[in-house]
Amino acid sequence: MRFCFHEPAENRYKHMGTMALIHKGDSDLDSRLGKIVSKIQDRELRTRIAQFVENPTIEIEGKTYRGVSLEASPAGLSHHHSYSGGYVEHVVAAAEIALTLCDVVEKVYRGLVNRDLVLAGVLLHDILKPLTYMERENGAFGKSPLADNMDHLTLIVSEMVRRGFSLHLVHIVCAHHGHRYGPIGPRTIEALVCHLADITDSRLNGEVLRAAQYLTREATGIELHNVSGKEAFQIVQAKTMEGWEGVTKAVEKVKQKRQ
Ligand SMILES: [Fe+2]
Ligand SMILES: [Fe+2]
Repeated sequence: MRFCFHEPAENRYKHMGTMALIHKGDSDLDSRLGKIVSKIQDRELRTRIAQFVENPTIEIEGKTYRGVSLEASPAGLSHHHSYSGGYVEHVVAAAEIALTLCDVVEKVYRGLVNRDLVLAGVLLHDILKPLTYMERENGAFGKSPLADNMDHLTLIVSEMVRRGFSLHLVHIVCAHHGHRYGPIGPRTIEALVCHLADITDSRLNGEVLRAAQYLTREATGIELHNVSGKEAFQIVQAKTMEGWEGVTKAVEKVKQKRQ
């Protein structure tokens, strides 16, 4: 089910019902992004973000680059969310973390934070990353030819400037890798919140993926490829609850489900 992003949030709630909006299953990934878009209060910003999320492309020398769909795309090739569906999971998780950080800013520190810009920043921060990936014949993801020339951050910032987004929002995206790994560090509360949400979820996911791969290798001697976030959390939890035997059982379950 797809969202009509351009309607006011109240109307969408009426059309879709609460269940559709809160559904977080794999079959409804578009509405997971739509739910985040609908939280943006400012109508004009919401519409413009929706247009970008619906059409995550860039035109260079008359050629339109599209890449892997948002729903199928990973959010990384090795460090985190390196599986199909990883992109949407990353954005959903980063949005949850970012909104929790906004609560902390307001409730604990009595600070001000613009939630619309934070949500917009989270939604756009990796929006053209799928253009840097391509799916190989064996189903694995690799780098696209465009990735040989441009990284995702440069692509997104270029397209945001072309589309006329505010300098503050451009800064949020420009600074999301932080001062150590990006061209500029966060200089606003909104940019800092987006950066922290991004690295927190990347780390959470990446550490659990690596742990699950290690546990699988040690317990079964096999290499489990393309482990998803959900599978990885199950495998790590099985080790905590039932030890190595639990890992073997969890891996077996994962393999059966995949057949
Ligand atoms: Fe990024
Ligand atoms: Fe990210």
